[in-house]
Amino acid sequence: MRRIWRPVVDRIAPYDPGRPLEALASDLGRRDLVRLSANESPLGPSPHVVEAIVREASRVHLYPDGGSTTLREALGARLGVAPAQIVVGNGADELLAIIGWAALEPEDEVIIPQPSFEPYTTVVELMGAQAVPSPLAKYETDLDDMVRRLTARTKAVVLCSPHNPAGTIIRRAPLTAFLDALGNDAPLIILDEAYCDFCEDPEYPDGIALLAHYPRLILLRTFSKIAGLAGLRVGYTVATADVAERLNRVRAPYNVNRLGQVAAIAALEDRVHWDRTRDVVIREREFLSRELSRRGFGFPPSQANFLLVQVPKASAVLQRLLRAGIIVRDGAAVGFPEHLRIAVGDHAANVRLLEALA
Ligand SMILES: Cc1ncc(COP(=O)(O)O)c(C=O)c1O
Repeated sequence: MRRIWRPVVDRIAPYDPGRPLEALASDLGRRDLVRLSANESPLGPSPHVVEAIVREASRVHLYPDGGSTTLREALGARLGVAPAQIVVGNGADELLAIIGWAALEPEDEVIIPQPSFEPYTTVVELMGAQAVPSPLAKYETDLDDMVRRLTARTKAVVLCSPHNPAGTIIRRAPLTAFLDALGNDAPLIILDEAYCDFCEDPEYPDGIALLAHYPRLILLRTFSKIAGLAGLRVGYTVATADVAERLNRVRAPYNVNRLGQVAAIAALEDRVHWDRTRDVVIREREFLSRELSRRGFGFPPSQANFLLVQVPKASAVLQRLLRAGIIVRDGAAVGFPEHLRIAVGDHAANVRLLEALA
C-alpha cells in the first residue's frame, strides 16, 4: 500500500473552535447569543474599517499587494521600526507556521509553556520537531524551568505574554534576565504579544525596545483582538530585518488578502477607536474582576481581554450559561479543568454573564 499521509498528522488533534456562531444561534433558537469564548473585541471594528472594506470590495478580483507594503509602512511608522522588520500574515496563526517552515528541522526542540495556545505545539510537531513542554507555575510562565530545559538542540522558545489562557504577563526584569541567560548564540525567542494592547501593568515590557538588544527575538502580534479584525485574519511579526527576510522567503506570495490589508491600515488610522477598545476592555475587566471576586470566584489577575475563572463543575456551568445565551470556553479544553475562560464583553454582556452565573 502506498503511504499517503505523514504519520505525524495522525497524532495532531484538530483545533476545535466550537460551532460557528450562526449555527449555534440557530440550534438554540436565539438571536441574542453572546460569544465570550474566543477573546474577540466587544466593540467590533472601527466604522472607518467598515468603510475601507466597502471601498475595496469591488477590487477583489485583483490580487493583493503580495508584500503588504502600505500596511507595513503604516505599522512601521506606528511602532518606530523599519517596514523591512515586519512580516504580515494571514493571522498570527499563519506566522507561527511560517516561522516553523523557515526554522524547524527534525530533531530540533522548542520549549513551550504548558498549557498555552495550542497551535504552538501543533506547528512544532508538524515540522517533525520536538515540543518540550514547560509547565506553568500555577498560572505564571516559569522562566527558570525554561532555562533548565535548554539544550544544544533548542531551536526556539515560545513565550506568551499576556498568556493565553492564564491572562498573566512576564514582567520586564525577569524577561530581560531570561533573555540575557540565553547568551549571544540564543535560540529564537517567539514572544507572542497578541493581547499586549490590554496591558496596563507598568512592568509590562516594551517588546519593540528589546529587539535592539536581542536579535533572535520575534514579536508576534495581531489585529484580531484590539482592532476587532478576527474575521479578516491579519497578524504580523516584528523582528530584525534579517529574520524578516528569512520568513518572507517561505510565505505564500499573496498571503494577506486585500480587505484585510485595507482594514488593518484603517484600524491603525482610527486611533480613537483603538484607544476606546482598550479603555472599554480595561474598565470592563475591572468590573468583571470585582464582581466575580465579590461572588467568591477565584482567578489570576488578568492583563488580557479575558479571565480564567475557577469554577467547580465547570462543564455543567458552561451548559447553563449556554442555555442563557452566553458562550464561554471550557478550561478543560485549554489545559485548565474546573475553570472557564471568559472574554471581557461589553457592559451589557458582562451583566448578563454575572446574572446567569448566579
Ligand atoms: C496567544 C495567541 N496568539 C495568537 C493568536 C492568533 O491570532 P490571529 O487571530 O491573528 O491568528 C491568538 C488567538 O486567539 C492567541 O490567543
